[in-house]
Amino acid sequence: MERVVVVGTGAVARALVPALVARGTQVRVRSRSAERAAAFCEELGLRASAAPDRAGSTGGKDLLPESQDSLGASPPAGAAWTPEGDEPVLDGLLLFAVPDRVIASAAQAAALRGDRPEAALHLSGYHDSGVLAPLAASCARLGFAHPLGSFPPDGPPLAPGLTWCCGGSTEGAAAAAAELSCHLGGRPLQLREAEGSKARYHAAASLVAGGAAALLHLAEQLAADAVEDPAALRAGLTDLLASMLENARAHGPLAALTGPAARGDDAVVEGHLAAMDPATAAVYRALLEPMRAMAAARAAVRPPSGAPAATEPRSAQP
Ligand SMILES: NC(=O)c1ccc[n+]([C@@H]2O[C@H](COP(=O)([O-])OP(=O)(O)OC[C@H]3O[C@@H](n4cnc5c(N)ncnc54)[C@H](OP(=O)(O)O)[C@@H]3O)[C@@H](O)[C@H]2O)c1
Repeated sequence: MERVVVVGTGAVARALVPALVARGTQVRVRSRSAERAAAFCEELGLRASAAPDRAGSTGGKDLLPESQDSLGASPPAGAAWTPEGDEPVLDGLLLFAVPDRVIASAAQAAALRGDRPEAALHLSGYHDSGVLAPLAASCARLGFAHPLGSFPPDGPPLAPGLTWCCGGSTEGAAAAAAELSCHLGGRPLQLREAEGSKARYHAAASLVAGGAAALLHLAEQLAADAVEDPAALRAGLTDLLASMLENARAHGPLAALTGPAARGDDAVVEGHLAAMDPATAAVYRALLEPMRAMAAARAAVRPPSGAPAATEPRSAQP
């Protein structure tokens, strides 16, 4: 992947730009503010360097990782910032790392500027490629590449190994998305072509990531007064989550389910509810139904010792 123009200097851009530069990609950062773009590159430890002339990319400065400077190594492709209104993109990938609500207007602005990239992708897990329609006349490959990761505002560079949901208006667009994900050490995930697939996929991602963070927050608040050391509590709860996730990764969520609801210890469940404030109890109650259903489903395929499986095929019985 030779050239990428990243639009936006937010959380995902902060993770992607250094990861792309580290893989030798020529990156340009486009921002609504030239000062912000320059500060962004500086914070990421990228420095100015002479840019080679090439079609569709005139002027500007290339920025390289600071470490290259002191080493005096021959410069790899670097990152360059491009202020708003600077030269149009005439080749490579145009990557919209802007909030979902402004992708369409950012695509509109790119079309008005005269951008004609080889492919244009956004990073939203919710929208499909239709949101890039303003660029349809100038780019045949419009798609999305959604990194299935959590990117806080000041997070580290993107680590390899993520799953990326990839797709697009054409096979070429989906291929460009898959190429980006593989270039960054990720695994592309294709959606089925069915109404609402992307919304369901993204709802699932939000439920598991946002939901788990919200549950951890509620759990910390619930037990804050019950322990001497809140930091030790956080360590314990996150270790507990990690061990559940390890089991779920290896064997699936049914096997990873533990706790009194799964064991049928109803008296303990009632004791928990009595110890909670009403808002936390409402969340706990809402989760009892799926937890009990999971426990029943697990018992049906793997009954407690001695009991026959409810789903045991009749032909297997004497
Ligand atoms: N954060 C995550 O965990 C995550 C995970 C997967 C996918 N995504 C997707 O990645 C994309 C970017 O998300 P993000 O979290 O990086 O967003 P963000 O931190 O809010 O940053 C977006 C950047 O977009 C630029 N921008 C352009 N027009 C804007 C406007 N009208 N209002 C606000 N910002 C504007 C800003 O850069 P300038 O000020 O420099 O123009 C801003 O820093 C979204 O499509 C999101 O769904 C996010």
